[in-house]
Amino acid sequence: MIRVRFVARDGSVREASGIAGARLLDVAQADGQPLEGTCDGDMACATCHVIVDPADFARLRPATEEEEELLDLAYHATRTSRLACQIRLTAALDGMSVRVP
Ligand code: FES
Repeated sequence: MIRVRFVARDGSVREASGIAGARLLDVAQADGQPLEGTCDGDMACATCHVIVDPADFARLRPATEEEEELLDLAYHATRTSRLACQIRLTAALDGMSVRVP
């Protein structure tokens, strides 16, 4: 299992885990994180926006241009913002930390 730490707006931390290949969005929702994911991964909503810990950001595959464009519209987007529906867990991501804005 690949572990992910979710940091809530109030700073509280929860650790969840998912299998390799699972979408971060699904892992987050299974853990009860408040990510709507309204379009279910069609890159049409940005309600799955998360802020990746800068220390972990480089471990992710780079965002596509389409994802970047949608992130420009996301609420409170930062330079390490990503769409959780576009992140697939891999062993290289074990222990990554993301903030739920
Ligand atoms: Fe809509 Fe990720 S679920 S963009």
